[in-house]
Amino acid sequence: MQEPHNQKTADHTTGRRTFLKKFSLFTILLGLFGQLWTLVRSLIPNVLYEPPTRLKIGRPEDFVEGVQFLENERLFVFRQGNQFYCITAVCTHLGCTVKYLPMQNDDPPWHFHCPCHGSKFRGNGVNFAGPAPRPLQWYKMELAPDDGQLVVDFGQEVDRDFRLTV
Ligand code: FES
Repeated sequence: MQEPHNQKTADHTTGRRTFLKKFSLFTILLGLFGQLWTLVRSLIPNVLYEPPTRLKIGRPEDFVEGVQFLENERLFVFRQGNQFYCITAVCTHLGCTVKYLPMQNDDPPWHFHCPCHGSKFRGNGVNFAGPAPRPLQWYKMELAPDDGQLVVDFGQEVDRDFRLTV
């Protein structure tokens, strides 16, 4: 009469052992997978691919006297004879594109107005009205040694008296 009970206990013990073996195997495999993933991930460098900061915008003779707006670059390029400089059109408040506005009674005779929240900038980019906290940025320009094109370096801000003479 004892035998069926013993048989039942033995089956139960075997079932528990099998479950524990499977669970242990699963846990070990999960740990190995985690380590393998960490190893694979460590072989992939954490690099940010950002657009280049230097951009060729054309030859000096392609630019007319006065101002030219480069829409894609959101940049105003100014030519005064053989001198060049550029001012960004990106508003320093929240980044809208400012508009060029001729002004008869100011020196230089234009302003920049932001259509979004009404910031106003003088012709040299200095803010004087609205929520913009800073002047518009001026970027360094130079001539490319290989083909003589104008190069704007968006990574290098310059003072407002900067001029590139070509
Ligand atoms: Fe130009 Fe707000 S984005 S004033």
